[in-house]
Amino acid sequence: MDPRVMKIPGVIDVQRVRDPHVLRSLASDTRIGRVSAGRGPLLNRLIGRMAADLFRAEGRVLPSGRAPDDRMRLDMRTALGARIDDPALDARVAAPLAEAAAYVAGGSGEPMRLTQGVLGAVVLDEFNPTYQTVKAAEDIGNVLNSGLIRQFIDWLLGGSRKARAVLFKACDEDLNAVHALGIASQNFAASLRVLRALPKDTRAEVAMARALAVPTQVVRQGKGPIETRAGSIDDGTLVILQTADVARRTLDPRDAFLRDAWSGCPAHALVPKLLRRIWLEAGGAA
Ligand code: HEM
Repeated sequence: MDPRVMKIPGVIDVQRVRDPHVLRSLASDTRIGRVSAGRGPLLNRLIGRMAADLFRAEGRVLPSGRAPDDRMRLDMRTALGARIDDPALDARVAAPLAEAAAYVAGGSGEPMRLTQGVLGAVVLDEFNPTYQTVKAAEDIGNVLNSGLIRQFIDWLLGGSRKARAVLFKACDEDLNAVHALGIASQNFAASLRVLRALPKDTRAEVAMARALAVPTQVVRQGKGPIETRAGSIDDGTLVILQTADVARRTLDPRDAFLRDAWSGCPAHALVPKLLRRIWLEAGGAA
């Protein structure tokens, strides 16, 4: 049996993708959409229900949980793009970037709090990280980075659901901001930790390649029986794009940010720019 495929009729239907060309092709295919409840065999339905919940806050679906043709997702991309391209952004992030740079240089600070300072200045006009918002992001990260059993328990008990509700309120119900501060923040904070540990004579280009933290996997779901470069995919098949593994091998930003996919990260150019600025301000080599 193909090790990338786990298929037991009526029970589970999962396909893993780790070939870079196949992954890019599937990530761009709008016939493979977000994971939703109620599709596929028994375990797919349960996993679908849990996964859909991870990308909601107070019942509202985050951009990262919305379907390819969802109008709100497109509106949110436009709104986030405008904030990222705003010429005033450089000045808005200057102070939190300096704090992050001091941490990378070896000073004190807590990576998630520093991250929320930087990303908060990107996505909102007024945001100051608090004990509650930092704890909420940490609670979300613990679940996102855990296995299915832990995610199942969290789904039953609602720990990360409460954490997303805290961020929803702190972000004035802005769903781009909830995604940035609760989900994207996990990768950014991990990058700060790596930058701090690197020798300061590491060239910036190498430091960026080492430090860029990528989501381990992105889960999608077949929305009808289709033929793809990964073979046949049924209605409800869970398609696991092994993004971190592929990005580590290709070192290609198309993979780290799924740049050319319909869901490609709107911050794909911003993140390397911010990390580079932090590295140089921390005294790292150019
Ligand atoms: C820190 C490094 C980051 C990495 C490696 C990263 C990577 C990704 C990836 C792989 C996706 C596609 C996920 C999917 O298809 O389900 C994505 C989507 C997204 N990212 Fe990022 N991201 C990062 C930071 C950020 C930041 C800082 C922001 C906001 C300021 C952001 C906002 C978004 C949004 C809103 C989406 C959903 C886009 C859509 O579905 O239309 N990301 N990101």
